Amino acid sequence: MMPRSSVESSSAARSPLTAQVVARCVDVGRTYGTGERAVVALYGTTCTIEAGDRVAITGPSGSGKSTLLHLLSGLETPTVGTIEWPALGGNPRDGAQRAGLVFQAPSLIPSLSVLENVELPLLFGGAARDDARTRALEALALLSLDGLQNDLPQELSGGQAQRVVIARVLAARPQLILADEPTSKLDRGNAEHVAQVLLDVCEEIDAALVVATHDPAIARRLDHIWPMRDGRLLTKDGDAA
Ligand SMILES: Nc1ncnc2c1ncn2[C@@H]1O[C@H](COP(=O)(O)OP(=O)(O)OP(=O)(O)O)[C@@H](O)[C@H]1O
Ligand SMILES: [Mg+2]
Repeated sequence: MMPRSSVESSSAARSPLTAQVVARCVDVGRTYGTGERAVVALYGTTCTIEAGDRVAITGPSGSGKSTLLHLLSGLETPTVGTIEWPALGGNPRDGAQRAGLVFQAPSLIPSLSVLENVELPLLFGGAARDDARTRALEALALLSLDGLQNDLPQELSGGQAQRVVIARVLAARPQLILADEPTSKLDRGNAEHVAQVLLDVCEEIDAALVVATHDPAIARRLDHIWPMRDGRLLTKDGDAA
């Protein structure tokens, strides 16, 4: 089936294709702060991500890419509008296998080893200790991080740490993978490798993938490109959706 992700009108977004819909935003907006200090990070946005979709979100710094990913992950709540996750049982944060967010900012726990960092969400999600270890080691190997499992985050390069964060998400095998600038600290070769791993894993576990990226070469590898400007998701023609 062809991917059906779309930036679309509100009425189309309410179509009854709920079984395939991983996430749907209807007129979703996010404002940080109040009064004179209020910043509108995202204006009323309507979009749908369906099973099997691979979407790149592009746009200049400050255009709202991270804000949209955080909302799609369920970590943040919209100030206006609604988000639904029908194919994720309604709640993207219920267990490790729903939505997984690769954070843009460094997010490893400094006192835990690389392996422990990757295992932790699996253990919180209820995985048995042996199973968590096996899956964490597999994910680290996928990202060519074998040999670094006992290192502490402070001993890693920026690019290695970025790949550990990706391994942590992939090990949980989430149905929706949201990756915020996953290749920003990587050289071309490693960036291509990481993009391929993300695509391969999504194929293997049948996950939807949304990647925020400044890298046109990475964006081109995905099926859809959603450009953003000034807190708005644009259509292909560059118009506000
Ligand atoms: N927690 C916050 N408090 C206040 N303002 C915020 C917060 N998070 C984001 N913003 C503001 O919202 C806007 C969008 O930020 P966002 O991080 O989503 O952009 P981005 O497209 O991901 O940028 P970049 O490419 O630099 O990562 C910016 O103006 C930013 O300053
Ligand atoms: Mg960002």
